[in-house]
Amino acid sequence: MRPGNSVAMADAGEAEAFLRQYHREIGRADLLYPRLAEVRREIGETGSYTHTPEELAFGARVAWRNSARCIGRLYWQSLQVRDRRHLTDAADVAAECVAHLRTATNGGRIRPVITVFAPDDAAGPPVLIWNEQLVRYAGHLRFEGGYTGDPRGYGLAELATRLGWRPSGGPFDVLPLVVEARHEGPRLFEIPREEVLEVPITHPSLDWFADLALRWHAVPAISNMRLRVGGISYSAAPFNGWYMGTEIGVRNLCDADRYDILPEVGRRLGLDTSCDRTLWRDHALVEVNRAVLHSFDGAGVTIADHHTESARFLKHLAREELAGRSCPADWSWIVPPMSGALTPVFHRYYDEGRPSPDFHLDEAARLRAEGVGPQRDPRIGTRTPARRCPVAHG
Ligand code: ARG
Repeated sequence: MRPGNSVAMADAGEAEAFLRQYHREIGRADLLYPRLAEVRREIGETGSYTHTPEELAFGARVAWRNSARCIGRLYWQSLQVRDRRHLTDAADVAAECVAHLRTATNGGRIRPVITVFAPDDAAGPPVLIWNEQLVRYAGHLRFEGGYTGDPRGYGLAELATRLGWRPSGGPFDVLPLVVEARHEGPRLFEIPREEVLEVPITHPSLDWFADLALRWHAVPAISNMRLRVGGISYSAAPFNGWYMGTEIGVRNLCDADRYDILPEVGRRLGLDTSCDRTLWRDHALVEVNRAVLHSFDGAGVTIADHHTESARFLKHLAREELAGRSCPADWSWIVPPMSGALTPVFHRYYDEGRPSPDFHLDEAARLRAEGVGPQRDPRIGTRTPARRCPVAHG
């Protein structure tokens, strides 16, 4: 099946390869041929086929296992799979996204979860989630230039505003869900406040850190990547793990095109910020990351540090090797964005294959997350983004 193409025929070759893999890995070669015959017949009659719940769960877990950019794959088998393939109405999908968040949040003991909605059919994707994550913060353009909030959330905030959203204009406004069902067009759904666990950021010894009034949400749940399993493409299948501290402390809070807090932290630390060679940024970065880990720990919210997660990843590689599998990994994403060479994942090369099942981000989904949709909804009109954030790692 080709995503984005209106002719959705499940590719029989991909289906067969997946079913072979599935039966091999679960150790039930005896069931392969009857199932293959069934699937071939279904594809012949309908152009597509339906995964059993077990095949779907396996496919989702292996898609995680195959995610070359993810350092957190040691626990791929523990992924909780919520099968919601019968849902295609925007309101039902939004409600299940909120239920997903609740299950994943689990009072702070974050659980890896995926919720799978209806797959593409002959008419294309029945449902799309425009947001890149279930929880993200809006960005607001300031009159004097620059942004309040997350510049990465500017495009979607604009779109949501045009659809009727009224943001408070603050630095941490949680974006509403924008869910587009084929028969409805994009609709807004506000996530109830109590369903979004957030952690205020404080520092273990610098009292003024709390005055920065920083916070971050507990669950990173990617919501615009397709799950592709055996020739079937699930356009809406939000999934989450738990955070590694550097995602927040290095990228989200300190990237120059995100919250960009290092200049302020450097000043407050009394560092000499007059030239790069004083390494004031590096110094401040460590303090921000100590604060993030300290705050999540204090709030009882699962978060990994990059040293522990790197060691776990090497354990995962060893296990995969023992299972006779190659583990695809992208060095530029696996190596943490601070102190790279202090972690063991820095000092080696990785397999570069891109096996399936997988998660895949297509260009249209990336644009939707910036608030730019292909359809001609009169409420949306046509626009080009005022400023497109570069595609950032993480
Ligand atoms: N880096 C992204 C963020 O900060 C989240 C990507 C997924 N991360 C994860 N730990 N599962 O929001």
